[in-house]
Amino acid sequence: DLVYSVAIDGPAGAGKSTVARIIADRLNLTYVDTGAMYRAITLKALEKGALMTEEIINIAENCSIEIKKGRIYLDGRDVTEEIRKPSVDEKVSKVACIPQVRQRLVKLQREMAKDCGVVMDGRDIGTTVLPDAKYKFYLTADIKVRAKRRYDEMLKKGIKTDLKKVEEELAERDRQDRERECSPLKAAEDAIIIDTTDKTLDEVVDEILSHIKRRE
Ligand code: C5P
Repeated sequence: DLVYSVAIDGPAGAGKSTVARIIADRLNLTYVDTGAMYRAITLKALEKGALMTEEIINIAENCSIEIKKGRIYLDGRDVTEEIRKPSVDEKVSKVACIPQVRQRLVKLQREMAKDCGVVMDGRDIGTTVLPDAKYKFYLTADIKVRAKRRYDEMLKKGIKTDLKKVEEELAERDRQDRERECSPLKAAEDAIIIDTTDKTLDEVVDEILSHIKRRE
């Protein structure tokens, strides 16, 4: 089949989105960042001061989310930068554990992958969103290394923070993502697990591409 999909899952800060973007570019597939979609709903909930689960479900079911050329639009508004702010980081895993929120987004994600090949990154792509994806990868790394990478990223963007705080935030988000009832963070049984702790970005990209080339 000409249209195939690549699922990339793993905990926060494992380098999924950077890797997924490069793989999509090399293979001429469309990159879909599913974390950005959970973040967009979280942003809207924060803006509306929605605290109750019912209100958040209502937002998820009635907002429009589009991904175009690497930008994410919430009700037509470009929120690509805003969804990265710390208040969203802090709240997103609570929004993502609501089954009805997931239901809406999983449906959108499957539609995005229907007509074109995608590289999709997230937490439940290989297990739930695209269980038939031709290629599944699960990226992990030591928490210290993930925290340092995220910290460096934030410094580059001019966001002041401290390493310990970043590590705690990642650990807490992972805990919530792993322990939730509805499609928790987990490697699919048929996923190739790649520990990126001691690997460079290029090494990880090459490893993934060599798995794919072997079967294409
Ligand atoms: O990938 P990113 O770190 O931007 O994802 C933000 C949050 O969105 C995750 O911590 C998780 O709670 C949620 N998420 C999810 N399922 C996905 C993608 C993201 O639950 N497929």
